[in-house]
Amino acid sequence: MIGYVEIAIIFVTVGLSVYLYFKRSYSYWKKRKVPYIEPRIPWGIKENPLRPTKSLLMQMKEFYNEFKAKDYAFGGLYFLTSPVLLLVEPELIKKVLSKDFPYFTSHGIHVDEEKEPISGNLFSLDGEKWRNMRIKLTPTFTSGKIKTMYHTMLKCGEPMIEHISSLSTNGKPLNCKEVLACFTTDVIGSCAFGVECNSFKDPDADFRRHGRELFKLTWRSNLSRFINLLFPKLKLPTINKETRQFFCDTFSNIVTHRKKTDIRRDDFVQLMLEINKKAEANGSNDSLNVGQMTAQSIMFFAAGFETSSTTMTFCLHELAHNLDIQERLRNEINATMQKYDGKLTYDGILEMKYLNMVIDETLRKYPAGSLLHRVCTKDYTIEETGTKIQAGTRVFVSILGLQRDPEYFPNPDKFDPERFSDENKRKIRSFTYLPFGEGPRICIGLRFGVLQAKLGLCLLLKNFIFTPHKSL
Ligand code: HEM
Repeated sequence: MIGYVEIAIIFVTVGLSVYLYFKRSYSYWKKRKVPYIEPRIPWGIKENPLRPTKSLLMQMKEFYNEFKAKDYAFGGLYFLTSPVLLLVEPELIKKVLSKDFPYFTSHGIHVDEEKEPISGNLFSLDGEKWRNMRIKLTPTFTSGKIKTMYHTMLKCGEPMIEHISSLSTNGKPLNCKEVLACFTTDVIGSCAFGVECNSFKDPDADFRRHGRELFKLTWRSNLSRFINLLFPKLKLPTINKETRQFFCDTFSNIVTHRKKTDIRRDDFVQLMLEINKKAEANGSNDSLNVGQMTAQSIMFFAAGFETSSTTMTFCLHELAHNLDIQERLRNEINATMQKYDGKLTYDGILEMKYLNMVIDETLRKYPAGSLLHRVCTKDYTIEETGTKIQAGTRVFVSILGLQRDPEYFPNPDKFDPERFSDENKRKIRSFTYLPFGEGPRICIGLRFGVLQAKLGLCLLLKNFIFTPHKSL
């Protein structure tokens, strides 16, 4: 029989061992003479990821500010007991993302294509596999290919305008985020897979419902994301089973059906099938199997609808509060449409300079992907300080920190599209404006994302005037 004293000794011993383990782990940055944010047991960072009062992205911006205020080029953090390096100085960021990219090729996501084919998507792959997939997919995202999708995109705008018109005549407020997510879901569904998602007819239609699930934040998904950052091999699910199954089944059925029937459409699935036809004709083994195509399709869907709809939502928020900017943009849209026989054309959208400035400024103040994430794949030495980054160390860049840094963007909370006029744009310091990342892993869907955001805004502004709801 174990008595109270023995139980107490076990508790004290276990408690002390855990404490000493944390203490030892938390000496990592100190030993390397790297400045660091004082860690807290057990999460390392201040916030509890189960009940955060601030998002991880906002916390990273605050850490960036703390290091920057002390003039540090980089600084250390801890996630639980794992060390993470946060970069601050743009020259160093340039080296990691671009010049010395071979040391930082990975996004640090565990891939197991055999057990989990959808893990083999471009965003998650690294090393040679990533490079090969990137080379195969790059031709899918050229301006020429995106242009062929423009008319499909434009058609998806019609139900959005009908939907808002029905609400605005009733004087009801508009939930911009939801409406724009319906629009981008319909766009990505049609342009990527030739599927009509019908998000406006039925707000609970499958694609919209499961799309919402993909980005739902719950304590469980927060914790899984946090733990996956530390232990990628665990690959804890961040989305529910039903949603995952829906996307796997739907996309693999689409790809298989297209392969069988040889139906042609101007969409991403078609472009992936053409990669295969070319590979067969050349006798190369560059083709994509159904699992690989399904993996890319799910990633296009997830990456494609949320980023652009968030960007448009923030843009409308600023335009509603800055009616002079809204009016100037509307005038540009109307003038350009007049030039093109009253039509909203692809060429017209590309010509609109002020629209470009407004989008650039929105992506500065509200970058949809606020944190860049790399894992060091080979030991690397920071030349200036001689600091060694060990292989396996996570390296972060806070886009939000850089883009709201008053040194690079004076008065950073002011929404000011003039920062991106031809003259001012040239003065922006390189590697301080990174809404799409930089270097070889820069966002592959940049053109597509910007085009759908620009089109959505033009459709809205030519039809409606936006003002803040009284609650804002
Ligand atoms: C406004 C819209 C968008 C924003 C702000 C955005 C932002 C980003 C950012 C910050 C990254 C990380 C880059 C890095 O690690 O250096 C990224 C990567 C990526 N994005 Fe986007 N994105 C947008 C739209 C899209 C669209 C529409 C697609 C696809 C249809 C897409 C597909 C991807 C993919 C596949 C990657 C990973 C690329 C790689 O690792 O090689 N994105 N995006």
